[in-house]
Amino acid sequence: MPVDVILGLQWGDEGKGKVVDFLANQYSVVCRFQGGPNAGHTLYIDGVKHVLHTIPSGIFRPGIFNVIGNGVVLDPVTLKKEIQSVLPKAPDALDRLLLSRKAHLILPAHRWIDLASENAKGKDKIGSTLRGIGPCYMDKTGRNGLRVGDLDHADFDQRYKKLKTKHLQFIRQFPDVEFNMEAEEAAWMESLDSLRKLRQIDAEYWLAERTALSENILAEGAQGTMLDVDFGTYPFVTSSNTITAGVCTGLGVPPNQIRKVIGIAKAYCTRVGSGPFPSELKDETGDRLRQAGSEFGSTTGRPRRCGWLDLVQLRYACIVNGVTDLCITKADVLNDFELISLVDAYQTGGEWTTEVPYSMETISEVRTVNLKGWMSPLESATRMEELPAELRLMLGNIEDSVKLPVSMLSTGPGREELLVRN
Ligand code: GDP
Ligand code: IMO
Ligand code: MG
Repeated sequence: MPVDVILGLQWGDEGKGKVVDFLANQYSVVCRFQGGPNAGHTLYIDGVKHVLHTIPSGIFRPGIFNVIGNGVVLDPVTLKKEIQSVLPKAPDALDRLLLSRKAHLILPAHRWIDLASENAKGKDKIGSTLRGIGPCYMDKTGRNGLRVGDLDHADFDQRYKKLKTKHLQFIRQFPDVEFNMEAEEAAWMESLDSLRKLRQIDAEYWLAERTALSENILAEGAQGTMLDVDFGTYPFVTSSNTITAGVCTGLGVPPNQIRKVIGIAKAYCTRVGSGPFPSELKDETGDRLRQAGSEFGSTTGRPRRCGWLDLVQLRYACIVNGVTDLCITKADVLNDFELISLVDAYQTGGEWTTEVPYSMETISEVRTVNLKGWMSPLESATRMEELPAELRLMLGNIEDSVKLPVSMLSTGPGREELLVRN
């Protein structure tokens, strides 16, 4: 059963890309299974920063295939730029990058509709990355979408025009929203040539052949559990299933092939965009976390909202994903904090609870466990056992709460800054 999964347990940006890049050389294939260029996965390799939006984070590991699965929504313009940016470091990237024929295409008008829909929501806006994700998934489930496999069909242009006409009819309701359709469309059409040059596969068969040979496959999640369209803080979510179940529908891999589920959580919490965030710190401590953790979006550059690690939320995420291995990232960001808090209960409807309520917006207060910080750098630790006692105590609190061992601890953005428990 050789499919392992790496996914985010909070509101995204947990450091998934870094951990995928670190572990990728233990696998023969890395696959993205959902989301699209709303994702921004940052890798530091030999001191050089790379931000990937669509390409899986295994691309810089020689000899490893990277698959963009059917569950992904793909913007050809973004993908073209991304390919150009990875080629200097991974010259054979084009030979190792494979596209599922069933992945859906983000059209220029999807981004226009995203913008119009957000504007129309006013103060209730989701804070979307405006990459056209929601409208593209709407066309997918509405059975109107265009897929990678359609690129080769003789009637592709007609089908594009038909869908565009539908979009333009919808957009007429929002005459004030500015969008340079002509320029965007021209760039999109041009980028299709690059897309046509990439290798298309029937990923479900291709992956089945690999699993039959007992090759190891790694599925890379985008966003995080609390942004899942079913189990997140709806409606302030993305439009895909970000949880483990999404691996099966987003790659065509059966559930009984899934082995490890590696859940990634920061040592604190962040959220970008609107929606409830029970442990948020709207004070100086929140600002300090933002500065220390450089918490500015990898895709949009927006400042991320910051707060303490939320154990109630984390336990929920471990349950819905069936997490087997926990990885805590950005522990080093807390090196200079004298006091560190962990949220361990919520008050909702006048009662204390340790479960995530139907709507997180009903939470009126949170309870915290307060711990002494370790006040020292972590670089010298080469094993978990060498970490400062205060940090080990914090990890113990997390383990007791989610009933799982912390198997990995990330202590810096660099590829090798990661401790793995034996
Ligand atoms: P992703 O979307 O989950 O892949 O995460 P992002 O790349 O959006 O955001 C994580 C940010 O934290 C990136 O800038 C990473 O380089 C950085 N990062 C990852 N792990 C660590 C860590 O352990 N310590 C520090 N200081 N930064 C980290
Ligand atoms: P990675 O993979 C953090 C958030 C947006 C918004 C909501 C819906 O880098 O962790 P969408 O563009 O999907 O319509 O936005 O979800 N969001 C993310 N937040 N990290 C991400 O991806 C995100 N992708 C979407 O900010 O609140
Ligand atoms: Mg990110």
